[in-house]
Amino acid sequence: MLSAKSIFHEIRHNPDAFRLLLSVAAKGEAQGGWENERIATLTRDPELARKVLRHGADETKHGLIFSKILQKAKLDKVDVPLEGDYCMLLESRGIGLPHERLKQDTPLESDEFLKYLVHSKVTEERASEEVNMMLRVFADDPALAPSLRVIADDEINHVSYTHEELIKLCAQGHEDKIMRMLKQYAMAEIRVYREVGQVFVRNMAQVLGWSWPKKMLLEFGVFATYLVERTITWRRLVTLRPPMRPNALG
Ligand SMILES: [Fe+2]
Ligand SMILES: [Fe+2]
Repeated sequence: MLSAKSIFHEIRHNPDAFRLLLSVAAKGEAQGGWENERIATLTRDPELARKVLRHGADETKHGLIFSKILQKAKLDKVDVPLEGDYCMLLESRGIGLPHERLKQDTPLESDEFLKYLVHSKVTEERASEEVNMMLRVFADDPALAPSLRVIADDEINHVSYTHEELIKLCAQGHEDKIMRMLKQYAMAEIRVYREVGQVFVRNMAQVLGWSWPKKMLLEFGVFATYLVERTITWRRLVTLRPPMRPNALG
């Protein structure tokens, strides 16, 4: 039977598929690290800048962890297909701050900081779910589980931090705007997540030589998840709750 567990185990046991999986993960984390480090430099409030910098350092560390797993397995990184690049697809939909803006040296306006924070809240929620799913799948894998546990723990801090900062801004009178932005960003992210999922299935189908019915079934699974998220479970991406770990990045 096809399950996330059986698919990820199949990927784990094929070197080409495994290095594609970890290359995608390493690139996403390293990119998040660079973005957060730039945002920290452009943030006026020193206390917030420190938190963003710590967030960036965590993401850079996650990228290195995935690269190290590849090195240990004596596998080289592969290029991530552009059409499956989660961060860049989000940027192309106007979500968060564009790379061109981050390369400039002008400090961020409050509206720009809000864009960054709402983007982080939605994407950190997703990152936390993804790493927990991988942790469930690879719980008994000694080469992966300890690293995934470290990353999963950091992601709780990141989610807590974004909730906490957005709740503070809501209390300062920005609630309506934040809720509107959260919904817009969540809907865009759900679409991008589906696109990335379909590209992932197609690439893995090619590497692993999946039959046409198997590939179609998995693509349908991605689409079904999209429909459920779009109609029902999107609310989890926009809900703000008191942080599980207060002052997690303080
Ligand atoms: Fe991360
Ligand atoms: Fe994170």
